[in-house]
Amino acid sequence: MKGIILAGGSGTRLHPITQAVSKQLLPVYDKPMIYYPLSVLMLAGIREIMVISTPTDLPHFRRLLGDGHQWGLDLAYAEQPSPNGLAEAFVIGADFVGDDDVALILGDNIFYGRGFSGLLQEQARNLDGCALFGYAVKDPERYGVGEVDGDGTLLSIEEKPAEPRSNLAITGLYLYDNQVVDIAAGLRPSTRGELEITEVNMEYVRQGRARLNELSRGFAWLDTGTHDSLLEAGQFVQVLEHRTGVRIACLEEVALRMGFITADECHRLGAKLAKSGYGDYVMDIALAAGASG
Ligand code: DAU
Repeated sequence: MKGIILAGGSGTRLHPITQAVSKQLLPVYDKPMIYYPLSVLMLAGIREIMVISTPTDLPHFRRLLGDGHQWGLDLAYAEQPSPNGLAEAFVIGADFVGDDDVALILGDNIFYGRGFSGLLQEQARNLDGCALFGYAVKDPERYGVGEVDGDGTLLSIEEKPAEPRSNLAITGLYLYDNQVVDIAAGLRPSTRGELEITEVNMEYVRQGRARLNELSRGFAWLDTGTHDSLLEAGQFVQVLEHRTGVRIACLEEVALRMGFITADECHRLGAKLAKSGYGDYVMDIALAAGASG
């Protein structure tokens, strides 16, 4: 399975912060926002990943993440000249996806919860059509909203409905079989001028091949769309990391645990960041995993 991180858009809801910096590069406590969705794809076992962003912002992502080899990844980059919709990711990324299945994650979505890695890998392995992830929220009208039958098959999806049929928001993580490339290629812009991800998902719903996995209450799906929610996401990460001593979305740690890099390689990455607590943490976990130091 390939992965795509969509990290474009104009970030207007966070102006003036995002006037000169891409939203997905803003800090969420101790690391750039894009680390969180990138760690999700890695936890799903995905190593070939394309980052899509605006022509202005793409060089900054490249400078931050490089070619990914330091984390055992193979990163590619592509421009989205204007925000023509989430489904455009599969038009831009068609050659990159090739004949594979593909996971799309929005660059501003933060997930945290026990057993997530196992759930993702299991869903990727048993994919038939598409697999989406739902999360109960108190303000579903701000999101895509799904309605499911008893065994998790999606019956309908509506984008930002005035009167939601359920409180299950569709999160910004989507697993698709290869058919998504053809579906996206056949889309026409909606009335708001975008290639809509909801249209893609509706095609799978019509085929009866769309699953919605509900993420349980013990799980966190954090919003970063407003000044308050961005700050709260950072505070959530800070509280958890302080309390447990474990870092969320530390790419070096994820790469080590997934077997993408060795303990010695992990230690070298930490040493390069030695002036920050983050670097110390990376070196510590590498030593605990048997690095020679
Ligand atoms: O976060 C989950 C929600 O994401 C879903 O529940 C909705 O169904 C889905 O449409 C989307 O809703 P948003 O209102 O968050 O979509 P927005 O247009 O703000 O785009 C989400 C992110 O993707 C944002 O960080 C900008 C980026 N983006 C957006 C578009 C339209 C791009 O990189 N390119 C684009 O063309």
